[in-house]
Amino acid sequence: MLFIARTLLRALTAAQRTAPVLLRLISRPAGSGFQKIFVQRTQKISQTFRKCTRLPWEAGPSHRFAWRVPSDFRDKGPKEISEMAITNVVSTQSNFTNQIVHGNCIDVMRQMPANSVDFILTDPPYLVNYRDRSGRTIQNDVDDTWLKPAMAEAYRVLKQDRVAIMFYGWTRVDAFFNAWKDAGFQPVGHLVFRKTYTSKSRFLRYQHEQAFLLAKGRPPLPKQPLGDVIDMPYSGNKLHPTQKPVAALAPLIGSFSLPGELVLDPFAGSGSSCAAALLTGRRHIGIEMDDAYFQQARARMERVKVRIAVKRFSEIGQFDPTDHLQKDVWL
Ligand SMILES: C[S@@+](CC[C@H](N)C(=O)[O-])C[C@H]1O[C@@H](n2cnc3c(N)ncnc32)[C@H](O)[C@@H]1O
Repeated sequence: MLFIARTLLRALTAAQRTAPVLLRLISRPAGSGFQKIFVQRTQKISQTFRKCTRLPWEAGPSHRFAWRVPSDFRDKGPKEISEMAITNVVSTQSNFTNQIVHGNCIDVMRQMPANSVDFILTDPPYLVNYRDRSGRTIQNDVDDTWLKPAMAEAYRVLKQDRVAIMFYGWTRVDAFFNAWKDAGFQPVGHLVFRKTYTSKSRFLRYQHEQAFLLAKGRPPLPKQPLGDVIDMPYSGNKLHPTQKPVAALAPLIGSFSLPGELVLDPFAGSGSSCAAALLTGRRHIGIEMDDAYFQQARARMERVKVRIAVKRFSEIGQFDPTDHLQKDVWL
């Protein structure tokens, strides 16, 4: 059902995002007149259609719909009545939860339901053709053809009234900003990560990284907002040439999501933000296209899981038959 919403959104994005749309099921016209819905509200599209058509959605049929923009919005939207096919039905739960997925994040996010992620924390390529001293490089760090489609998908999968934090390369701030704005994100804050070292020395000694805090809709304010200058210790870059330290990421996850919520990193690298999500009790989805970094991230997540389990075990202590609070652990 969400496929309808996604197709509609794509079809109408260029025209006008907030125009209502009338939809009618062509393959079963009886009892299914045009329904007025707002294309921004994918949940509502789903509910409306469930009620009015009673189709076997779970079976994944292929049906045809007509859609048009009502007359009072015609000057702003497309004029003609168009048709589209439903070829796929996806559930509202992501199949990728608690995994590092190997692949191109644009393709992977397209398989994820809209509005399914609570927080995005990501560090995309900075578009600087980076190569470290040992010759390690980063895929997609040269051209920006992936940037707009990736940001559009990130926006789609993020829940309404939630935020994303995205690092970016300051030399290409224009490209990142355009991609975020085109996708629908509103910048609501800017973070500076102060390094304890100099990564490069030219006109200045370069000693910080940066990220934008981006809103989808109108997220609630955190009770105790973080400062926008955060200390960033050196990670050592052992697993990845631009590895971000978990210590700088974990507080962000703590501030913008709740335990058990789902954190997405579409450019996972060695999995630093997924490790931070795991350590703070959140669910995660990491996506990484480079085979070597994907392997690093997957192995790292296993190590983090073991460490968490060992720590819990040592905290629980020995079995004490007189301690009734331990019953649910040992018995
Ligand atoms: C700046 S690095 C992220 C490093 C990460 N923060 C860490 O701590 O390890 C960006 C990563 O995005 C990956 N990447 C680039 N384009 C991608 C795409 N379209 N889909 C998935 N991963 C991509 C690169 O291979 C690279 O590992």
